[in-house]
Amino acid sequence: MSLIHRLPVVLVSLTLFLVLVLRQLNSGDTWNENTLAEQASPVLQELNEDEKYDVEERPPVLYAVFGSSTPNGENYRSYDYAFNLPLTALAWERLGFRSVVLIIGSRCEWENDPALSYILSHLEARRAIIIFIASPLEQRSKLSQTARPFTVNLPGFPGRDNDYLITSDSDLWPLRKEHYVPRPNMDIVLVHSTCCRPFKMNNQSYPMYPMSNIGATVSIWRQVMNDNHSIADDADTILNYLEDVFGDMARGSLIVGQPTWYMDQRMTSIRLTEWMQKYGNESVYRVSDVGFSRFDRLNWNVATTPKKNFLLKYDAHMPLKMYLPAKWNSVRPLMHWMYGAQSWQTKWCEDYASGFLNKVKNYMRLQLFVAAENSRPVAILGDLQHGHSQQVD
Ligand SMILES: *[C@@H]1O[C@H](CO)[C@@H](O)[C@H](O)[C@H]1NC(C)=O
Ligand SMILES: *[C@@H]1O[C@H](CO)[C@@H](O)[C@H](O)[C@H]1NC(C)=O
Ligand SMILES: *[C@@H]1O[C@H](CO)[C@@H](O)[C@H](O)[C@H]1NC(C)=O
Repeated sequence: MSLIHRLPVVLVSLTLFLVLVLRQLNSGDTWNENTLAEQASPVLQELNEDEKYDVEERPPVLYAVFGSSTPNGENYRSYDYAFNLPLTALAWERLGFRSVVLIIGSRCEWENDPALSYILSHLEARRAIIIFIASPLEQRSKLSQTARPFTVNLPGFPGRDNDYLITSDSDLWPLRKEHYVPRPNMDIVLVHSTCCRPFKMNNQSYPMYPMSNIGATVSIWRQVMNDNHSIADDADTILNYLEDVFGDMARGSLIVGQPTWYMDQRMTSIRLTEWMQKYGNESVYRVSDVGFSRFDRLNWNVATTPKKNFLLKYDAHMPLKMYLPAKWNSVRPLMHWMYGAQSWQTKWCEDYASGFLNKVKNYMRLQLFVAAENSRPVAILGDLQHGHSQQVD
């Protein structure tokens, strides 16, 4: 037989062989939690952006940056922000963004703590870019509030000039894509730009642009932050930079109401104003909030809000202690709306939250035992005993 005649036979055998091999792979029960999580994510099956495209033609990558300090173990509440990180990364993934997570502390601390290494592995499953910023304990909370505008300078940030970076918070889930994406021919995207009153610095008035979301291309971020200023790319140089703007106050403790409160927001607002004075504001896009609002933990009403009104929410300011079952139950309607009740994303979040609770349960009981000397935190104990239910509404 000639090769031409044998070809169909070869193809059929090859297909059969592949099907068998794939079946074998899928039926193996050797998958651990992480490979399952990775397998579930379509994003993870893509090639690395750089492998797929030449440098020139690669479409811009959209990055969202948010951060967390390292929980100090003094109180289970300090896990609040850290717990949110993978969930918030998934919320950004839903809109087509890749997360950059700034962690004030060291990788070693996170790898050696069972709850933190659990968070870390789930961040990695989301392909988040994790950047650790080493810092002495007393400066950590300040740095976790001020590091974001320096992201483009940090070693480990992979963004190129034409990529786009938007700042955000670890306890904000973005919902309305149109609020956050870059606009054609625009250098800067300001979200909620009319939210706040102007502030005064050095006898000059500046508009206040909230850090919750400021977007710009990477090259514009570099221009805004670095032109004519020292380049800050680690804990010490960031504090030096802030010292240049705020004086000695920058290294002191944070006091509500002082100019150092919301230091990054004031500093970034000043830099953006200077940038607009130099380059004009034609390439600055201000997203309108008219007709839209936020789901806020202060009035958490996702269970009673009609689903059609979810489209009028730009983001959700997530409840604290979300890993506690009662809080988690209250978040579920939002999660189901975002991802679908039967989606891999919802399953991934459920598995993550219950796994996390198991990691911190003993630790929390110990905390409660110690706290019981003074008071009886009955509510939280009751909460723990109910465990996670998997009901679907
Ligand atoms: C602050 O600005 C006001 C009005 O522009 C001016 O009269 C005043 O002298 C300024 N004060 C200082 C300390 O520069
Ligand atoms: C930086 O300084 C140079 C020289 O003074 C000036 O021409 C330029 O406009 C400044 N750039 C910015 C962004 O302020
Ligand atoms: C943009 O710049 C122009 C000219 O400087 C100014 O009149 C206008 O108020 C600015 N727009 C905003 C929204 O700041």
